Amino acid sequence: MQNYSGKVAVVTGGGGDIGKAIAKRLLAEGAKVVVSDVEKGALDAVVTELSQGGGEVTGIVTDVSDPESVEALAEQVYGEHGACHLLFNNAGVGAPSVNVWETTINDWKWVLGVNVMGVIHCIQSFVPRMIAGGEEGHVINTSSGDGGIAPMAGQSVYASSKASVSIITECLAAQFSQQHPNLKATIFYPSGGLLKTGIWSCARNRPEEFAREKPSGQPEDLMGAFMKHAEETGMDLQFQDLDDLATALIADLKADKFVAMLGIEGAGQTLRTRAEKIGRGEAPFDEHSMIA
Ligand SMILES: NC(=O)c1ccc[n+]([C@@H]2O[C@H](COP(=O)([O-])OP(=O)(O)OC[C@H]3O[C@@H](n4cnc5c(N)ncnc54)[C@H](O)[C@@H]3O)[C@@H](O)[C@H]2O)c1
Repeated sequence: MQNYSGKVAVVTGGGGDIGKAIAKRLLAEGAKVVVSDVEKGALDAVVTELSQGGGEVTGIVTDVSDPESVEALAEQVYGEHGACHLLFNNAGVGAPSVNVWETTINDWKWVLGVNVMGVIHCIQSFVPRMIAGGEEGHVINTSSGDGGIAPMAGQSVYASSKASVSIITECLAAQFSQQHPNLKATIFYPSGGLLKTGIWSCARNRPEEFAREKPSGQPEDLMGAFMKHAEETGMDLQFQDLDDLATALIADLKADKFVAMLGIEGAGQTLRTRAEKIGRGEAPFDEHSMIA
């Protein structure tokens, strides 16, 4: 799809930082944007902010881990707009960095529920409608280099969820290409350096039902703690500009890339090294896998 003007886009996790940047870019492209998020306050703030720039943006509170909530989102989008051309499955959360044997059942239930089942629920509610609509469409699933390219050893829960998102997207793209060539699927790997977003304090959205069974010993606001440490130790932190990240994403989508990623060359090298090691029967991890 080359021209987004007048197209309908849905961005889950649109109350968050990367989602907001995507929504902002889509509005600049002339798309009608529906942002959805489980966090009503953040969602309302994004809708208010983005509305000021002109364009058509609305917000719908949705919990992607709940299939009924996602079905209600799809019903509302199709009721109001009659289509969804661009579906950004972007909502995501992470669990504390701990050893695999120290992860808890609720870590897995919560993170897989949002990151994996959330993507599945959106695909199941939107894709049949996109197929029935018969128009051009694109499903963009936000994965992570952490899991999608190579896992950080401390991040078994998050990395597993994102590896799953990447594989689901590959299967989806293959099925679209064989059966519905008007539809595309893309994996989006947010990258380009440190990303200052709300994911570092994602426990704010962790439901009581999936509360951690024991303390992780980590601060709830990891980014805050990290920045304090950086300030104390004189580290010069450079953050990737999120508007530039979203602009690069849209350029990759228009170029029909299956993988949308800033700095994809580095990821390619990492994957080649991993594949060679695995092909020799060796463990693929290196010292970078141990960070986090
Ligand atoms: N920030 C990074 O370094 C980074 C790197 C790679 C990938 N990602 C991925 O980018 C995506 C966006 O994250 P972000 O970094 O902007 O963080 P963020 O916390 O700013 O945004 C994530 C949004 O998802 C929402 N959300 C959480 N649970 C939800 C649920 N059950 N239903 C609906 N919405 C829910 C949150 O309220 C939040 O607004 C995530 O999928 C994340 O895994 C982030």
